[in-house]
Amino acid sequence: MRTENLPEKLVPEDRVAFESLLSKLALYERRFKDKWGAETTIRTIRIADVPKIVKMGYEMWEEQPWNKGITQAGIRNNNLKASLQAEGPIALIAEQYRKPLGMIWGYDLSNHGRACPYPKNLKKVLAKLSGYLSSGSYRHVIYIRELAVEPGSRRKGIAGELLDSFVELAKQEGADDLMLDTNVDNIPAIKLYVEKKHYVPAIDPRSGRELRGTTADGDITRFLHLKLK
Ligand SMILES: CC(C)(COP(=O)(O)OP(=O)(O)OC[C@H]1O[C@@H](n2cnc3c(N)ncnc32)[C@H](O)[C@@H]1OP(=O)(O)O)[C@@H](O)C(=O)NCCC(=O)NCCS
Repeated sequence: MRTENLPEKLVPEDRVAFESLLSKLALYERRFKDKWGAETTIRTIRIADVPKIVKMGYEMWEEQPWNKGITQAGIRNNNLKASLQAEGPIALIAEQYRKPLGMIWGYDLSNHGRACPYPKNLKKVLAKLSGYLSSGSYRHVIYIRELAVEPGSRRKGIAGELLDSFVELAKQEGADDLMLDTNVDNIPAIKLYVEKKHYVPAIDPRSGRELRGTTADGDITRFLHLKLK
């Protein structure tokens, strides 16, 4: 695993950027006393969490069999920062004794037409989603950009609880739908969304087929959504 160059601390310019971005987040906290042995909290991320969860996200994508490599530039200008720069971001961490166990973040797509500082690959996804969303089927959609649980804490229901907390916040924001895309080969994630949480495949109204996306590496993703209203 290529972990030696990972950021342990935020460089000052990142810290300033993240501090202003994090101030936009709605405050949220849910405590679990007995569910996972020791007290566990799901809460809004703070500045001190950023290096830990960027590292965690990096290691998680490293482990994926279809991952073809994440660059240092990708780490600095990471998904989290891009998500927080978007409209209406939501970003939560699950932690036990200050150790991050998992995280989820995403943002509002209702303003999807405007120019925004997304990385190139995300622009493609958004272009595809915009075509879909402007078909009129959806009004206020929140997009889940990333969900991950650290390997030692899986199959205990943490991702399920992170998703439930995300839904709670998305409802508070008045969202009609949640949308996400996940690699077609990501069986754990697809089972979680579809079998456990009842997300359904998004259908492209033009072709009548399931909506698919392509990542920067050329991997195929499936779009899934959940109606909140
Ligand atoms: C996908 C992921 C977030 C699931 O996290 P988790 O905390 O283990 O998930 P949960 O414990 O809440 O699992 C709930 C359900 O999801 C399904 N599921 C989760 N992992 C699974 C696996 N390895 N195989 C089959 N089903 C799985 C099951 O239906 C499970 O219910 P069960 O345990 O009662 O059978 C985790 O495996 C992960 O971080 N993977 C790497 C990052 C990733 O792929 N993120 C999703 C990208 S969109």
